[in-house]
Amino acid sequence: MTALSHSSAWAALARHRRDIADTRMRDLFAADPGRFGAFSLEAAGLFLDYSKNCITQDTVGLLLDLARQQDVEGACARMFGGEPINLTEKRAVLHTALRNRSDRPVTVDGRDVMPAVRAVLERMDAFANSVRDGDWRGYTGQPITDVVNIGIGGSDLGPVMATEALKPFAHAHVALHFVSNVDGTHLAEQLKWLDPETTLFVIASKTFTTQETLTNAHSARRWFLETAKDEAHVARHFVAVSTNEAEVRKFGIDPANMFGFWDWVGGRYSLWSAIGLPIMIAIGPERFAELLAGAHAMDEHFRTAPLERNMPVLLALLGVWYRNFWDASSYAVLPYDQYLHRFPAYLQQLDMESNGKSVTRGGEPVDYQTGPVLFGEPGTNGQHAFYQLIHQGTSLIPCDFVAAATTHNPIGAEAGAHHRILLSNVFAQAEALMRGKTADEVRAEMTKSGKLAEEVEALVPHRVFPGNRPSNTILMQSLTPATLGALIALYEHKVFVQGVVWDINSFDQWGVELGKQLASTILPEMESGPAEGAHDSSTTGLMAWWRANR
Ligand code: F6P
Repeated sequence: MTALSHSSAWAALARHRRDIADTRMRDLFAADPGRFGAFSLEAAGLFLDYSKNCITQDTVGLLLDLARQQDVEGACARMFGGEPINLTEKRAVLHTALRNRSDRPVTVDGRDVMPAVRAVLERMDAFANSVRDGDWRGYTGQPITDVVNIGIGGSDLGPVMATEALKPFAHAHVALHFVSNVDGTHLAEQLKWLDPETTLFVIASKTFTTQETLTNAHSARRWFLETAKDEAHVARHFVAVSTNEAEVRKFGIDPANMFGFWDWVGGRYSLWSAIGLPIMIAIGPERFAELLAGAHAMDEHFRTAPLERNMPVLLALLGVWYRNFWDASSYAVLPYDQYLHRFPAYLQQLDMESNGKSVTRGGEPVDYQTGPVLFGEPGTNGQHAFYQLIHQGTSLIPCDFVAAATTHNPIGAEAGAHHRILLSNVFAQAEALMRGKTADEVRAEMTKSGKLAEEVEALVPHRVFPGNRPSNTILMQSLTPATLGALIALYEHKVFVQGVVWDINSFDQWGVELGKQLASTILPEMESGPAEGAHDSSTTGLMAWWRANR
């Protein structure tokens, strides 16, 4: 048994879970008019209501005991302090330094990294402004109208999510595009509409060795040269974001057109670094600074607030509560904001690449569950797709609802009518999940509407909602660079705290390696076929089927 599952805090939570097995949230609300006030808090421009969870004050107390037992506060100090907490890669984890808006130095191996962080930001500012102002010209002297970011994983998901989320703040004449998939369709469909003379490519890759990104980048360069003809023009149309200057040079991009970052920035935590260049080009350096400031405000809250009033800590512990004590294997993030439509996809990498682990930091197999499956869609679309299962299915799926009080598009018969409908749905969904509908309530409702007793009884089991299904609601006044920054940082720290509780390394990703390795073995075998016995019969058979049918 690992230390965690053997620990007193763990055992106390397991006992408590049995004790409250029959407790219903609707009764807790009825018994305590102060429940909303007791289980809600505000930080960094975000409001969190966590009262619709299967918890009492005792639950929270026991979860906080678990956090203290696992030394969440110490781990937080070690992360902010630049210690090499990513043990398997011997790296510090300092995405927080990228948005450090204070004068506080941040040291790695005894050296303050802040001057280098500020220097890259200044170069990014100047470059983004020159593209936005039309001063950066293509090889025929025309201003740039389209920027294509080529990257994948953390070098794509953060920039695309934030660029979509902050569209109301975007430059009117420079359009952003994102290509990630090695499927040639992705690049081809983007390039169809673009003019090489006015298109700028940002090749974003921390390692600059990622197969998908390099393949797309080479094809983009070929497409560009079909028109531009001269290699010398590449410099006006290709810039790189990377930690690997040697590989950037090898690709043919002048290091003068490279924006660097550092090995202490994990890919999925990198949108605050030069990887955020497309975001900055879209919204401008001032707005990008607001994004950083919003994240910094959440960092300060996380670093300094007591555990019991600490938003990322509370969200993390609630996740642990359901994952480990309620057997909830998935959870849903449901942004009621179309601008956040890529937020669940972004969080999938953040959460599942970070906490999809099954050995402790010391290398022992865990004997408890770790990271859940995360999924989501913007509301109200999800309501007409998978919410049925969340309301009446056999699995418990905790939900996070995210919404803004105001909209950037106040349209409708009366100003803002769409937004009021949207928000009425988010509030209704959370209430429906919590309250459910009892058999007696179904009977009363159907009888009132004139249904015959026989019909009522036949339908009652189908129309009952079990309720007691948990959710958090996160609200902000408006979706802005600052509130988006705070929201992303909230989830980053939530994931971090869960990793600390589970005693896993949230900052490596060895699980993506095996597939990559095998693909590089299989690629040269595609035409000729593999050597006898090189693969299992299924893999060999699939390759043969492809050769026969292409
Ligand atoms: O999916 C594995 C991964 O290493 C991610 O962690 C990373 O964000 C992505 O690949 C892209 O890596 P790079 O930025 O080095 O191209």
